[in-house]
Amino acid sequence: MISPISGFSKLTKKEKIDWLAETYLKDQPEDVRVLRQYWNEDSRLQQLHDEFTENTLSNFYLPFGLAPNFLINKELLALPMAIEESSVIAAASKAAKFWRSRGGFKAEVIDMQKIGQVHFSYTGDPEKLTGFFEEVKPKMIEAVKPITKNMEKRGGGILNIELKDKTESLNNYFQLHCTFDTQDSMGANFINSCLEKFADVFQQEAKEFEAFTEEEKQIEIIMSILSNYVPHCLVRSEVSCPVEELFEDDQMSGQEFAEKFIQAIKIAEVEPYRAVTHNKGIMNGIDAVVLATGNDFRAVEAGIHAYASKSGNYSSLSHAKVEDGIFTFWMEIPLALGTVGGLTSLHPLVKLALDILQQPSAKKLMKIVAVAGLAQNFAAVRSLITTGIQQGHMKMHLMNILNQQNATREEKLALTDYFKHHTVTHSSVIEQLQKIRLQ
Ligand code: MEV
Repeated sequence: MISPISGFSKLTKKEKIDWLAETYLKDQPEDVRVLRQYWNEDSRLQQLHDEFTENTLSNFYLPFGLAPNFLINKELLALPMAIEESSVIAAASKAAKFWRSRGGFKAEVIDMQKIGQVHFSYTGDPEKLTGFFEEVKPKMIEAVKPITKNMEKRGGGILNIELKDKTESLNNYFQLHCTFDTQDSMGANFINSCLEKFADVFQQEAKEFEAFTEEEKQIEIIMSILSNYVPHCLVRSEVSCPVEELFEDDQMSGQEFAEKFIQAIKIAEVEPYRAVTHNKGIMNGIDAVVLATGNDFRAVEAGIHAYASKSGNYSSLSHAKVEDGIFTFWMEIPLALGTVGGLTSLHPLVKLALDILQQPSAKKLMKIVAVAGLAQNFAAVRSLITTGIQQGHMKMHLMNILNQQNATREEKLALTDYFKHHTVTHSSVIEQLQKIRLQ
């Protein structure tokens, strides 16, 4: 029987691993060796990683790759992508190359507002609360000056604070709905620090507000936290070209391709089962760049999927049309990203990714990420409506199987050639590999 442990976080790394080995990996000494194998030789670098979070035992690698040839607003960029899924970087690169010779991607930031809320309970006259809010608002703004001073120097700060009566949804529920401009930082710490201070001042001042009854003075702060729903931190990416330049092979003309592509997008607009997978393809591109640049992909995911449901039905994030013979494919997504603060100056690979992207501002990174998502979606839908998705996937799958089998370079070359004309299945790859090895 396993007994719970207390004080695990206080143990040294070695002690933690010993405890784990003793408790859960008794018959698997190899697993413990793997933990050590993934430590960085450079102890300072390892310590840096250990300290990013708590109870670190080892590192968890993801491939860090590059998708070159992205022409974005006339600038040629190579996108760093951290992702484990095969075919994603290949697909992005292919889409980048395709659109580079058709004018490239256009991207624009529509707005950059971030939101944070103080959620509180108040029992009493809403009009008195409004009066109190107007009186206390300047005091709240004054109280956060030490926090906002630097942000204001960089051109950001608090844009607005509104009092919202939410009692129609929930008894006694009100909120301070606050809007921020956090410039090049994602701003989570900044926003949360401001909110907690607002909450403090709001609650304390209520106790002194003469017009309030004793009950009204007892404002209860439930929580103060930024929102990862950022529909006003919005970016649009787009590609377009004459229909006849879109596609041409023996099977399909540009016009036919455009029609089938648009129908595929419309299906994702009306059918949630398809929309989720369609948007997942977009997130393949988005998450990979978000992760490589040290941003919070969980926040990005949550915000984007909420945006995809803004009509009340979960729907496609991307859209397509043909007008006057021009095919246009575009997407608008909310993205709260940072290029300063957080991991950006701490994680060496994040620093490198930002160097590769030529030290973008947050605004520019929003455009790059939105382009990565659109490119990925174009590549996926293009495959789906032409060759099918498995052809490309199976090529990468082949490599994974060969790596699992420790295939040599020569074996890989021979089998890649063979499987250009044969169907990849796990057993067929093993069979062919054995044949080569017996020769
Ligand atoms: C796989 O990771 C992503 C796709 O399923 C996206 C799509 O279906 O559009 C290929």
